[in-house]
Amino acid sequence: MLHLDISKTLGTVSAAELIALYGKATSALRALHAGSGKGSDFLGWLHLPTSISAADIADIQATAAKLSAGAEVVVVIGIGGSYLGAKAVIDALSHTFAALQDKSKRKAPLVLFAGQNIGEDYLAELMEILQGKSVACIVISKSGTTTEPALAFRIIKSFLEQTYGKNEAKNRIVAITDKSRGALRSMADKEGYKTFAIPDNIGGRFSVLTPVGLLPIACAGIDVAALVQGAAEMEKSTGANVPFEENIAAQYAALRNALYAKGKKVEVLANFNPKLHFVAEWWKQLYGESEGKDGKGIFTASVDFTTDLHSLGQYVQDGERMLFETVLSVAKTKHRLTVPPDKDDLDGLNFLAGRRVDEVNRMAELGTQLAHVDGGVPNIRLELSDLSEYTLGELMYFFEKACGISGYMLGVNPFDQPGVEAYKKNMFALLEKPGYEKETEAIKKRI
Ligand code: PA5
Repeated sequence: MLHLDISKTLGTVSAAELIALYGKATSALRALHAGSGKGSDFLGWLHLPTSISAADIADIQATAAKLSAGAEVVVVIGIGGSYLGAKAVIDALSHTFAALQDKSKRKAPLVLFAGQNIGEDYLAELMEILQGKSVACIVISKSGTTTEPALAFRIIKSFLEQTYGKNEAKNRIVAITDKSRGALRSMADKEGYKTFAIPDNIGGRFSVLTPVGLLPIACAGIDVAALVQGAAEMEKSTGANVPFEENIAAQYAALRNALYAKGKKVEVLANFNPKLHFVAEWWKQLYGESEGKDGKGIFTASVDFTTDLHSLGQYVQDGERMLFETVLSVAKTKHRLTVPPDKDDLDGLNFLAGRRVDEVNRMAELGTQLAHVDGGVPNIRLELSDLSEYTLGELMYFFEKACGISGYMLGVNPFDQPGVEAYKKNMFALLEKPGYEKETEAIKKRI
């Protein structure tokens, strides 16, 4: 079970202040479950883990097996919520150097990503690496109209069709999109791709447990049933009738709001295991896009420790005191590695000989926590028993649930993202997209 330790925030938020938020957090939790809050059309994720059927999982696994059979690389195309969940889980659970691993040791194809940026060099180098390899593709876009993935898919589709011919290419492509709307749905139906529908009532950043996340994750050889099972356990233990004292999602949400009210405007998600880097990227989108609106919201940032202790660590320790830190800690590593003795001991590290590298990391974590708390940075600690499908499922559902509660406590609609449209409008005007003539004329006067 995911463990939440809030004891190192109590210097900033008192137990009485937290207890005073009990009512507000409980009302927010109940509003989520009753569907009576803002954005209630987008609550499909709430009971998703316990409602995914064995047949749904089997379809995902069978499609992943078919797509991966003989493929060396599966390119997953998507951005934002159509990308980050899968990337987070795959990075956390795969070999760090999978791309360099002996092919015979790999149980699954390499999963690479595209459509999450518009980098010409990125795409050109990806296409270069795909030459001569057996490639399959999953293209994901809920709206079916997002520019970044559409652009990448145009390039990959053309590569697949040229390499394998149109008929074979269509067997190597799976599209995940709206059930009836959008350009990707029309194209998939016309071309005859296998498709999965993204439920109308689940927004991108809450979609990791739909085919959006599960299909790419299954292609990477990861057990999606265990991921869903972990999430289902968390769904039960953070339910509407679970009291605040036992409900860690409500507690985390309440604490964030209490810290925000004390001027802690930035939450830094820190990990001491680099495999969690993209879990933090996923988390930043989840909270940043859900709460950053109406002139309010905690700014979400992330650091990889101990790496970033040698860069941003200075700011966290001594900079402006508007930060609090949430540390993701993993109790048990996958591997064991001890420090070897050295007869000359020129580096002076013989006092560590025979001890685990993880012990050094653990003491760095503890030392950092105490230093940051002393420096005025309240510290929330989330401990995972290990890094597995099950614990990641628990963690992701926990964050989703707390995000819904926290957004309602803040008074915003956590399920919309009106702010992401502004850049698109300007970009289309600057690119002179048909239909944007007025905007083009107006924007040209500003540049
Ligand atoms: O969370 C969200 O809704 C967004 O981040 C979207 O996932 C992202 O913009 C991609 O949208 P789409 O899946 O429609 O291409």
